[in-house]
Amino acid sequence: MIEIKNLHKSFGGKAVLRGVNLTIQDGERLVIVGRSGCGKSVLLKHIINLLQPDEGYILVDEIPIRKVGQKDLFQLRRQFGFLFQGAALFDSMTVSENIALPLNEHTKWSKTEIAEKVSEKLSLVGLPGIEDLKPSELSGGMKKRVGLARALILEPKYIMYDEPTTGLDPIMAANIDKLIVKLSEHLQVTSIVVTHDMQSVEKVADRVVMLHNGRIIFSGTVDEMNRSDDEVVHQFVTADADGPIQPKPQKYLT
Ligand SMILES: Nc1ncnc2c1ncn2[C@@H]1O[C@H](COP(=O)(O)OP(=O)(O)OP(=O)(O)O)[C@@H](O)[C@H]1O
Ligand SMILES: [Mg+2]
Repeated sequence: MIEIKNLHKSFGGKAVLRGVNLTIQDGERLVIVGRSGCGKSVLLKHIINLLQPDEGYILVDEIPIRKVGQKDLFQLRRQFGFLFQGAALFDSMTVSENIALPLNEHTKWSKTEIAEKVSEKLSLVGLPGIEDLKPSELSGGMKKRVGLARALILEPKYIMYDEPTTGLDPIMAANIDKLIVKLSEHLQVTSIVVTHDMQSVEKVADRVVMLHNGRIIFSGTVDEMNRSDDEVVHQFVTADADGPIQPKPQKYLT
């Protein structure tokens, strides 16, 4: 279980998170929505301690992540798979080297063991046999799936997906949504998905929360969200405020 308590974060005097409270249960598929720039990626990065809060704290399985030492932090990180917005693959490395990256840091496995794990995860995401390709040879959807294979390589308890379907055609996006559901059911992982895409939300979410002005302003099922009479929530689901919501170019990959 992840408990986020009263999280505050500002950048250069600009408040992004202003008291976020959120509990994520084991096995849940939680989707976080919100307008571009509202702090969704910033929130995810706090959960894996890539960013530290100005105020508030996060408990992972009842352990406050700010208080753990370097060694325990390492163990804690191991429990998280992160599919970065934009996939964030290294172009100079092969698919297999990209997927194996977390293993160099976290394990002392032999080359054969690594090769086996990499192949297993590639099959799991529906891309068997592409170990030796370079990211430049892959389509956008394939890159996302390779990023996902990398997120899965250490068999995490929690997987975080930052905009997994952005920039994909509708069929590929639907495939990724199916994969998220399949992984959550087969591996019993807890999934935290950030997206703009209401179609994805409908397919993936057990529960959806909306981040707005630095706080969670809605939590409930997709149906409840669609029926919400809160003006901001309603505008978001119908996208009638100022046209369809487009993601802004990605500037912060890590
Ligand atoms: N490392 C950083 N340094 C300074 N400002 C940052 C940093 N990371 C994020 N921000 C700012 O925090 C705000 C929230 O950014 P964030 O990336 O979390 O938005 P988002 O909700 O994920 O948006 P999008 O849907 O476009 O991905 C933005 O104004 C962004 O410019
Ligand atoms: Mg983002």
